[in-house]
Amino acid sequence: MNLFDVYPRYKINIVKSEGIFLWDDQNRKYLDLYGGHGVISIGHAHPAYLLAIQKQIEKIGFYSNSVEMPIQQDLATKLGEQSGYNDYNLFLCNSGAEANENALKLASFHNGKKKIIAFKNSFHGRTAAAVHVTDDQKLSAPLNKEQFEVEFLELNQSEALIKALNDPNIAAVIFEGIQGVGGLDMPSEEYLQLLAKLCKEKNIVLIADEIQSGYGRSGHFFAHQSAGIKADIISIAKGMGNGFPIGGLLINPEIESKHGMLGTTFGGNHLACAAAISVLNTLQNEDLIQHAKKIGQQLSDELSKLPKIKKLKGKGLMLGIEFDFPAKSIREELLFEYGIFTGSSANANLLRILPPLTIQFDDLKPFLFALNEILTK
Ligand SMILES: Cc1ncc(COP(=O)(O)O)c(C=O)c1O
Repeated sequence: MNLFDVYPRYKINIVKSEGIFLWDDQNRKYLDLYGGHGVISIGHAHPAYLLAIQKQIEKIGFYSNSVEMPIQQDLATKLGEQSGYNDYNLFLCNSGAEANENALKLASFHNGKKKIIAFKNSFHGRTAAAVHVTDDQKLSAPLNKEQFEVEFLELNQSEALIKALNDPNIAAVIFEGIQGVGGLDMPSEEYLQLLAKLCKEKNIVLIADEIQSGYGRSGHFFAHQSAGIKADIISIAKGMGNGFPIGGLLINPEIESKHGMLGTTFGGNHLACAAAISVLNTLQNEDLIQHAKKIGQQLSDELSKLPKIKKLKGKGLMLGIEFDFPAKSIREELLFEYGIFTGSSANANLLRILPPLTIQFDDLKPFLFALNEILTK
């Protein structure tokens, strides 16, 4: 049997990892400024993470949600404390798309409505509802196209928002704290404040997709928190498990649960919870959210001294470096000549930087050196 070929891949076989570094099967070392697509939050093979998984699997790795699992409550308590969403409830699942699928469904269960407002350039995943609120027609199969009504708005256009939210049929608005796949654009603080106010007034469920921008990456626990607002549902995945597949929803206590309303076999299993708890412990013990803010600022300051950069986008350690020309050759040169992984986005002119939050400023110097060399050639 061969693999179903849906991923364009670099011809690199990673066999080892530690902290911010990767090694391939030729023993070549790489600096990881991509974090496996923003997943590696506390660094590859972090000792606390390894120990937590090892200790848990020796006891029990998996049992289904048919029994009590106190480890889920431990995770919920820690997540509530650290995120500032203490009074919210937690639903656990396995991936980002699944989190958004359930978020949209839950909003519709809650207010009985079914139109969704999403944003241009959004990416929310590839399951049926999630792909339908994703602004990329290529990702939708014919069966995805005839679903509920979705209206895509331009980010940060207040008048259009006010007009769109006058429609009485809207179940939810879904936005990314910082757009990831779309290219690092983000809602302004004033726009988020307006959005939160209107949603509250109109009983529209506000869904913050923090799958990529959450878990400390922006310098806040969730990127939308810089605006001082609260969403009704926050979807999480990626950095939550540092590579162990886990996702979830933080849910406003006003949204009532009912047995059978949502569910999944693997969601919140013992091993995934152990991994996720070790991530939260490490974020706290190593003060990684403040660290991400500081290092992100230092990196931005240094990048702003380099030539040919049109714009720096994003926040903390979720940064986009935009040029006036396609960034593909820069990305490939960084990888093949200098051994540095970076990411791409729907914006072909942009390099996406998503390193583990444990990275130190000195670790970034080889990248700054390489980028300067490439740009001044
Ligand atoms: C903002 C956002 N939402 C949802 C998803 C989908 O997550 P997953 O690939 O885990 O289904 C992604 C993945 O890149 C994402 O960046």
